[in-house]
Amino acid sequence: MSEETISKTNVDPIRNPKLKIRIDTILNTNKNKPGSLMVILNEIQAKVGFVSSPMQQYIANALHLPASRVHGVVSFYSFFTTEPRGTHTIKFCLGTACYVSGMPQIIDKAKQLLGTEPGHNTSDGNITLEVCRCVGACSQAPVVVIDEEIHGRVKPNKFAQLIRGIDTKSE
Ligand code: FES
Repeated sequence: MSEETISKTNVDPIRNPKLKIRIDTILNTNKNKPGSLMVILNEIQAKVGFVSSPMQQYIANALHLPASRVHGVVSFYSFFTTEPRGTHTIKFCLGTACYVSGMPQIIDKAKQLLGTEPGHNTSDGNITLEVCRCVGACSQAPVVVIDEEIHGRVKPNKFAQLIRGIDTKSE
């Protein structure tokens, strides 16, 4: 993110003047374009890094839309996140090959080890868990992507080792 960093703890544009300026600029530039809601949400995700619930409400008010409409779009598309991403990202492939090869058990293990679930961050904000669609490595299913690195044939006990690897990398 080349522009000024936005506070990761105050995600309400009403109470965060820097965040409000960034969002207002995106709103004013794009609100009259065709498909403005999608354009605006994409810009905010790309430039701010997330679309929190208060941000969704703020956008809905600005565009005179029901908040449920904005929330519906954000929750439908997996590339939108409602929290700032952590330093590291773990993606669990939920494509068919990975799903049938035991991904639900790996996700359960991740929840147990990290105390959070896909769509959220660890309590220290360091790691973001996400699900994704097929990443094109079905022959190695089940696949977990840590940052941009693909890890194949992951077993729950191997997943524990991968987590230790992330902790070492973030030192
Ligand atoms: S289904 Fe997971 S990599 Fe293809």
